[in-house]
Amino acid sequence: MKHIKIALIPGDGIGPEVVAEGVNVLKAIEQLDSDISFTFTEFPWGCEYYLEHGNMMDDDGIDRLREFDAIYLGAVGYPGVPDHISLWDLLLRIRKAFDQYVNLRPVSLLDPSLTPLKSKSEKNIDMLVIRENSEGEYAGAGDWLFKGKPEEVVLQTGVFSRKGTERIIRYAYEEARRSNRTLTSISKGNALNYSMVFWDQVFEEVGKDYPDVTTYSYLVDAASLYFVTHPERFEVVVTSNLFGDIMTDLGAGITGGLGLATGANINPEKTYPSMFEPVHGSAPDIAGKGVANPIAAIWSVSQMLDFFGEEKWGKAVLDTIKSMIGETANLTPDLGGKASTSEVGNRFVEKLTEKD
Ligand code: NAI
Ligand code: MG
Repeated sequence: MKHIKIALIPGDGIGPEVVAEGVNVLKAIEQLDSDISFTFTEFPWGCEYYLEHGNMMDDDGIDRLREFDAIYLGAVGYPGVPDHISLWDLLLRIRKAFDQYVNLRPVSLLDPSLTPLKSKSEKNIDMLVIRENSEGEYAGAGDWLFKGKPEEVVLQTGVFSRKGTERIIRYAYEEARRSNRTLTSISKGNALNYSMVFWDQVFEEVGKDYPDVTTYSYLVDAASLYFVTHPERFEVVVTSNLFGDIMTDLGAGITGGLGLATGANINPEKTYPSMFEPVHGSAPDIAGKGVANPIAAIWSVSQMLDFFGEEKWGKAVLDTIKSMIGETANLTPDLGGKASTSEVGNRFVEKLTEKD
């Protein structure tokens, strides 16, 4: 009997709307499989909490989360609270405290109707982007000098440690080897003459341990072009924190939009809980209307199940997502349908249950 303790942080805007549907999927799996059970503990953190209490999460929040196996997060961010506060004081704080240094973002086309690219099918767009998740430009290193003065200068330093760079690149090689796919590194060694020259060097060094893995290395600007013109060139992709953030939104753009994009923040050693979340934000423009697409959040559930060795269920969830895409009427408006968030969730559970 496998028991998984999940901390829920539904967060702001559409976060709670989509997380509720993901939780229903997990509850359905619990019903269908007597060998798995989940417990859910909800934390009310986020921007509303900030406006009331002056912080995004409780001071002992990290200690309280530590005892869980996984964190399932909706989204944070809301008008009235500066985005850098909501991001740094909750999301990045958790990623850092729990050393979730791997960000796994699948960029897979589920159906040709979902891509704006001409004549591209599921075979052409099927990659796993592995984004460095602990340092780079998001390390928080820098300075703000002479604030408000004419000589004002700001520095946002890219931090690339040997440990941090090696471990993400090694993780990517392992994944490429395990899944028998090519590995592409995306960097920018021509212009970033310290950080990205170092990145490229480490990519080559670590590669000596993986002579069986075919590799490619692209500059980030060229890679952006190829994502659109030749996405089939990419299978497993490894890149830095900033580039990965941007490239995966581009990835979302060629596979059906943010309503379908998911990302797992992984601590591979399982020393700390890993965190599963849709890539999208709190979408204030549609919050409260019941039209948010819950599929990205449900895909996160699939990643969570894979991470805990329940690949059978991870696959069942993903297969059910694929089978839903054909039923446009049962999808949310962002995918051309008329259904509400909970209607999509309910239909999903119905289909998953039928399948089993
Ligand atoms: P966003 O992802 O919230 O929304 C961008 C656009 O995509 C909007 O038009 C929205 O309606 C649409 N969209 C997003 N998710 C959708 C879904 N599930 N179904 C249907 N349509 C969907 O990004 P935006 O507008 O840049 O940011 C809004 C807030 O979210 C900001 O406060 C930002 O800081 C925060 N944010 C939080 C993230 C997180 O918690 N991981 C990630 C990105 C943004
Ligand atoms: Mg992003």
